[in-house]
Amino acid sequence: MSSSIQIAVVGSGYVGLVAAVCFAEMGHQVICVDNDQRKVDALRAGDTLIHEEHLPELLGRYRNTKIKFMTDLSEATRECNAIFIAVGTPQSETGDADLSYVEAVACEIARSLTKYTVIVEKSTVPVYTNEWIRRAMERNGVARHLFDVVSNPEFLREGTAVADFLHPDRIVVGADSERAAAMLSAIYKPLTEGTYYTTPGAIAGSCNEHAVPPLLLTSTKSAEIIKHASNAFLALKISFINAVSNLCEATDANVQQVALGLGLDSRIGPKFLRPGIGYGGSCFPKDVAAFRSVADQLGIDFNLLAEVERINVSQKARFVRKVRAALWTLRGKKLGVLGLAFKGETDDIRDSPAIELVKMLMAEGCSIVAFDPAAMSRTKEVVPESRQMSYADNAYAAADDCDALLILTDWSEFKDLDLDRLNKVMRYPIVIDGRNMFDPAIMSEAKFTYISIGRPTAYPVRDAVPEVAAV
Ligand code: UDX
Repeated sequence: MSSSIQIAVVGSGYVGLVAAVCFAEMGHQVICVDNDQRKVDALRAGDTLIHEEHLPELLGRYRNTKIKFMTDLSEATRECNAIFIAVGTPQSETGDADLSYVEAVACEIARSLTKYTVIVEKSTVPVYTNEWIRRAMERNGVARHLFDVVSNPEFLREGTAVADFLHPDRIVVGADSERAAAMLSAIYKPLTEGTYYTTPGAIAGSCNEHAVPPLLLTSTKSAEIIKHASNAFLALKISFINAVSNLCEATDANVQQVALGLGLDSRIGPKFLRPGIGYGGSCFPKDVAAFRSVADQLGIDFNLLAEVERINVSQKARFVRKVRAALWTLRGKKLGVLGLAFKGETDDIRDSPAIELVKMLMAEGCSIVAFDPAAMSRTKEVVPESRQMSYADNAYAAADDCDALLILTDWSEFKDLDLDRLNKVMRYPIVIDGRNMFDPAIMSEAKFTYISIGRPTAYPVRDAVPEVAAV
């Protein structure tokens, strides 16, 4: 097999677009297919559509050379040896994943397939999806020897998507045929053999030619479960530390110290132990619900997942109570809000706990002045400007004359705020931090009342009383 493979990626959302440019970066020829003509036009013109580090650079490098954008899936099917399905799998009303887009793509591929092709599930899908895709192909008259269906889940995070894709902790390939497994191994060879990391201009990250990512070959069903179980486990870690943070608040302990002590145990590890206002985003809430629904359908008791969700929801109500406790009453209060995206360094607001909190506080009669470095225009579409909601050009303008300033998204740039300036513009210097961005001792020095998650409240230091000279 030649080292450059003809790959189609269907869907140009976070996973699809990042996979497409990264496959081109790894040396393959890629066709990225999307049925939205406007998206295709924008991508052809070099607009990445999403806020993601390295994406503009890679798109600029390969647009119209190693990567083509089109709406025609039939043409892409005829030209390619492997087709990655990376379309959306939204949550249905019952909590399980809506697979109608995946099915539509499979049927369309079936209509144009003439030579052996590997169909790869890249979207997060429940166990058995692989089998359903296979059945859909067969029902549409495709001979079994002309295709294989493989599961190759993606673990990238928004904000660090390109580096995560090219420097993964592991590559999981669920394949029930040797021929399909060989195709996937060939696609990922530049990473698993480390040649990519020695190419000039390679995107930097945790891997290098001596530390390459492992490729784990599994059955298709195991690969499907690995993806759901990974996201559910990470969500569980967050809900666990959130529950522990509530215990710390009740006992005046410090969750930061507790998380450090927990995370130093190599069996637990330090990551995903940051308490806050609950997890959000396009994956965790949807995937935990879908995994729970899979367990329900199989008659498996997995109530632990329901508890993970319950703690996540209650964390937001708890934060509102915190704001009320700090301000006595909420009606008519003016609150500055820093952060609207579901996490820092992204403009994504899907299932953002920050926006949910803004809505909850507005329902309590507060007025909000919000600032987010990248997510304001998207937020304006769901929370339009009104008497109760306005948007500021910067963090200081959001804090101006407010009764309290809330930090709802962990944008790293918030750490560099000029605390003196912030203090001077606020009506009352009260900061309620849902992301534990600041050191309480520093906030105390900067003369704030500083309320955070799972740590004792810090109060403004009093100016030293001048010593009375002895007479
Ligand atoms: C997640 C998974 O990490 C990734 O592997 C998968 O492919 C897609 O879903 P993403 O949604 O980009 O990625 O965000 P992530 O960084 O995992 O954060 C998810 C949510 O959890 C955010 O709201 C974040 O603020 C929150 N979080 C994360 C915490 O509250 N505490 C933590 O310690 C970590």
